[in-house]
Amino acid sequence: MNKPFSKVKSVKGELTFAGDKSISHRAIFFSSMANGKSVIKNISLSEDVKSTQKVFKELGVEFYYDKSDLIVTGLGKKNFLPPKNFLDCGNSGTTARLASGLLIAQNFSSTLIGDESLSKRPMQRVIEPLKLMGAKIESSNSTLPIIINPTDTLKPIEYDLPVASAQVKSSILIAGLHLSDQSKVIEKFITRDHTERMLELPVDTVGNRKIISTSEKFYPVAKEYFIPGDVSSSAFFIVLALLTNNSELIIKNVSLNPTRTGFIDILRKMDGNIQIENVKYSSNEPYGDIIVKSSALKNISIDESIIPNIIDEIPILSVAGIFAEGIFEMRNCKELRYKESDRIKSICDNLKKAGLNVEEFEDGFCIEGEIKNNAVTFNSFNDHRIAMAFSILAMLIGNKSSVDGIECVSISNPDFYPQVKRVVNFN
Ligand code: S3P
Repeated sequence: MNKPFSKVKSVKGELTFAGDKSISHRAIFFSSMANGKSVIKNISLSEDVKSTQKVFKELGVEFYYDKSDLIVTGLGKKNFLPPKNFLDCGNSGTTARLASGLLIAQNFSSTLIGDESLSKRPMQRVIEPLKLMGAKIESSNSTLPIIINPTDTLKPIEYDLPVASAQVKSSILIAGLHLSDQSKVIEKFITRDHTERMLELPVDTVGNRKIISTSEKFYPVAKEYFIPGDVSSSAFFIVLALLTNNSELIIKNVSLNPTRTGFIDILRKMDGNIQIENVKYSSNEPYGDIIVKSSALKNISIDESIIPNIIDEIPILSVAGIFAEGIFEMRNCKELRYKESDRIKSICDNLKKAGLNVEEFEDGFCIEGEIKNNAVTFNSFNDHRIAMAFSILAMLIGNKSSVDGIECVSISNPDFYPQVKRVVNFN
């Protein structure tokens, strides 16, 4: 088992995080679709959420800030303006996939584009169900650009999700909000459920399957949203506090949605000392405070059913695994290959640089052995979660390691390095 040869003396204090990225995307979608003024409190400051805002600006929606509240003047059903430019989703898969579901129901043509990384990510997963709904949606090689043309013959579907993806689920649910008859999405593995919570969609559970229904009855109305802090951004600090001696970190008002906190369940099973307090609700979303104390961790086996719930936290969970007793093994997570980088490869390449024994599988990886090199320049692969996970590892293995290309952290958390300065005491 590795012991942190740390340049970090302790992690102490309190952090709050800007609004959760997934919930913020949806708050912008639903307030833009609604008729009239909505107020979004504690909106995410991430570049990804700015991409969603940019897409809706191009569709005629007006945004302004009243102090830190984002005020959105939504246009109401089918009142978006035809875009004069391509709709640029930047690095954001959530923007591209959710927007596809919205745009198939508009009476104008549109083209979705993205940056180099997003342009390589799979889009057939949304094109296929939306085509089954009768959409006129095309892409030359199942990636962006996606071209959408209007049709007035959309029809509802019942769709069994072939991949565990909240983005695909949400794309269909948003399309279905434009039809009087019900569409249903069925999922075997439970993915993040912000769309159904925020729209208050009917949900049935049959055996191990979840069935979510949608129709125009649930079309969003203007309202006030409070977005709880981003729990995925907090994961990096939770792991750092657990692995550092003499640490106690409090994270206030962070999302505690159970489809997002699988990493906390896993870290607790690994003997992590993590307490949850002051649970409250806003827009059907639970949030509260997390208290983390230094802990000696042990590795555990990770079940396939929890993978969609921890998909964004696997890079930082692997860092925890390196310093836990036993071998860290992640399987059944091939979806990681389709994220902002091929995260299985990004994690394995970086860990090999530290001299760890790493075995790469098509659907995961296994890490064991000692860190033999503590002067490593890790690669961010231009992927925000890889940059943050390996910045934490660099801090834990001494003062000679660093990460190349850290600017990409702003895709989800531009405050990452100021927050490190706030709570981390260095030797
Ligand atoms: C997201 C869903 C997940 C996640 C992504 C955000 C969302 O992607 O990895 O960071 O907001 O719906 P998939 O649905 O493709 O798994």
